[in-house]
Amino acid sequence: MRLNILIVPGDGIGAEVTAAAVEVLQSAARRFGHELLLSEGLIGGAAIQKTGSPLPAETLEKAMKAGATLLGAVGAPEFDSLPPEKRPEKGLLGIRKALQVYANLRPVKMWPALIGSSPLKSEIVAGTDLVIVRELTGGLYYGQPRGLDGDRATNTMSYTRGEIERVARKAFELARGRRKRVTSVDKSNVLENSQLWRKVVSEVSRDYPEVELDHLLVDTCAMQLVLNPRRFDVIVTENMFGDILSDEAAVLAGSIGMLPSASLGDGRGFYEPVHGSAPDIAGRNKANPFGAIGSAAAMLEYSFGLAKEARAIEDAMGRVLASGIATADLNPARAATTSEVAKAVCEALAGAGAAA
Ligand code: IPM
Ligand code: MG
Repeated sequence: MRLNILIVPGDGIGAEVTAAAVEVLQSAARRFGHELLLSEGLIGGAAIQKTGSPLPAETLEKAMKAGATLLGAVGAPEFDSLPPEKRPEKGLLGIRKALQVYANLRPVKMWPALIGSSPLKSEIVAGTDLVIVRELTGGLYYGQPRGLDGDRATNTMSYTRGEIERVARKAFELARGRRKRVTSVDKSNVLENSQLWRKVVSEVSRDYPEVELDHLLVDTCAMQLVLNPRRFDVIVTENMFGDILSDEAAVLAGSIGMLPSASLGDGRGFYEPVHGSAPDIAGRNKANPFGAIGSAAAMLEYSFGLAKEARAIEDAMGRVLASGIATADLNPARAATTSEVAKAVCEALAGAGAAA
């Protein structure tokens, strides 16, 4: 199969982790007999510096032509004092919106080899296997009116029934192939938005009778995530709550560097690790590439229907982790570099090919 993929490295460690993911994609393509057609695009601070815009039209055109897009990270300290409109992050929000990838799947899985890496007690994190489905193209991130007007600032949280319904369906469909439980997270004791959210999610759930639905308030959910993470299978929530809860949930997995994500809509998929651009370690071959590699695996599965290839990459990741090879966030005493981790995953992938 021919895989037409756009790579947008972005800022900071984005270049290193996407390079690692591309190596693994190349390895997988060799092993399974696929052809990779890669192109590259600018986004974020890197794009502002070269073109003046955080999301050049050319990048969007390339994304529309590609079968899927893999992003590294966006954000750079030199833009920290600028308003949201002029920041690198605007590029990321722009491409998510343009591609209409309204459902952002953020799986949080406890890899057995990393059980000691979480600051939480092993008996709490053991067996964690959940997915946060974050609404990605609405809510506070995009709501109008917005703005900073002297000493008053305004943001708007607004959702329509249609926006809630479509992301809820993705969550129920995902749960159907898993442990069949959806937890919808809101703040319906305070927000009208959340009252609509809860009502629509409950209505959608009637179409999925085999899936059990419960509702949690977002503050309770934040607490339950670190008290009893095994209670969760699929969590569905609005954009900002999902942003916050997914960083919290990353602690369960030992490092935010481990978390992949898949952003899906009704068309093209968009894939990015959950972590940021980590300017403090950028360019030093130190960043954990597993989030990006896992995102590449998710791309093969969701955008190209290559589930077997995705599982092979995940198996290779598991074997590398079990062998103790990991970057400094997980293994400070004997840290491997980003490229060493990528090479090990490629070797594990090729080795499995020879054995099969
Ligand atoms: C994320 C990030 C982004 C977000 C930032 C970089 C705009 O935190 O993907 O979780 O808030 O969506
Ligand atoms: Mg975030």
